[in-house]
Amino acid sequence: MLSELFKPIKLGTMLVPNRFVRSATNESLTDKKDYVTDRLADFYEALARGSVGLIITGYAYVRQDGKSSTSQAAIYDDKFIPAYKTVIERLRPYPIRIVLQIAHGGRQSIPAACDSKPIAPSPVPYPLTKLTPREMTEEDIQEITHSFARAARRAREAGFHGVQLHAAHGYLLSQFISPFTNRRKDKWGGSVENRARIILEILKACRKEVGKEFPILIKLNSDDCIEGGLKVEEAVRIASMLGQAGIDAVEVSGGIGDSFPSACRPDIKSMKEEAYFANNAQKIKEALEGTFGKGGLGSPDPKKTADQSASDGCLCPVICVGGIRSREVMESIISTGKADMVSMSRPFIREPDLVEKIRKGLTDRAACISCNQCWHPRGIRCAQLGTRD
Ligand SMILES: Cc1cc2nc3c(=O)[nH]c(=O)nc-3n(C[C@H](O)[C@H](O)[C@H](O)COP(=O)(O)O)c2cc1C
Repeated sequence: MLSELFKPIKLGTMLVPNRFVRSATNESLTDKKDYVTDRLADFYEALARGSVGLIITGYAYVRQDGKSSTSQAAIYDDKFIPAYKTVIERLRPYPIRIVLQIAHGGRQSIPAACDSKPIAPSPVPYPLTKLTPREMTEEDIQEITHSFARAARRAREAGFHGVQLHAAHGYLLSQFISPFTNRRKDKWGGSVENRARIILEILKACRKEVGKEFPILIKLNSDDCIEGGLKVEEAVRIASMLGQAGIDAVEVSGGIGDSFPSACRPDIKSMKEEAYFANNAQKIKEALEGTFGKGGLGSPDPKKTADQSASDGCLCPVICVGGIRSREVMESIISTGKADMVSMSRPFIREPDLVEKIRKGLTDRAACISCNQCWHPRGIRCAQLGTRD
């Protein structure tokens, strides 16, 4: 019997051939002016050859002051579109889908990217840069909303199959939903509805630019992993609001820049340590099913064809990310209905062909040891494979 992992699924109008997602990963494969390069196309082509169903690109910053790492891809101007087109052309022969992650760093932006201070919902100091951001004005919020919408329009023009709003890991949208970083007293802060308002406004603005058919996904923090931060109960409510507003899929993550643990937990050795946000993903999935009525994505009807099964069920699939390593855990996330798709970052840096290896029965576990040595300013790489320059 075909494993659930290899059944197609629909995210809005986008048909993804299997349940494997390459989670957004800042590849650092850009030139000095933050245009994407042929090296990035090589990297994605290896993932496409390896049958990853959906690639979510690394963080692309929507405004110049939203850059959060020294080497990061830009999408703040139309001039970046042709380079993305070249990358996407290389993926045309493959049945996979590719989505651009659009983001702004807020208080986690690097100082070199900002003329003066980074901006944020509230002036909460960021220990890593030792800077206190400037509190955003109403005008700033309107302008940022348009920046995200323009970035989504550029993504569509470049040929991406969709966009993902980055509302996780302590970046700007994650700062707004978090009571730890959002201390505002106006309509953008306070209640969970107010803290989520900016994301709902951005979703609306993006829809106006790209239309109803273009998939818009979100990566959402389910727990900031810091005292006073966002907890899963509030994340569930935000996901429901997003579901009702027409988001096409929710990827569930957690952690912020100054939290421990973070999004990338080290040394995942046993199955017990894997999939550390899976229980939160399940809560979010249950809430979304409550919104739309229980669907069949987690338990497809055996009488239906793969394509029929892919297009019914929950209107808003849930993607689980964070420490997923073994086939047994992947299968159980899908079969127990914790999530509809499994997403990985570090394992694909070491093994871009991991999905094919699993499909062929050549491995049951990613070789990644979660050492967190993969980041490199001249391109991510696995530190366990050969020497680093
Ligand atoms: C080198 C590196 C870069 C990352 N860049 C991004 C990014 O651009 N956007 C994002 O949402 N998450 C980013 N992440 C986090 C991953 O998407 C993922 O949430 C996290 O690594 C946990 O998944 P894993 O255990 O499969 O690696 C990055 C992770 C790594 C290791």
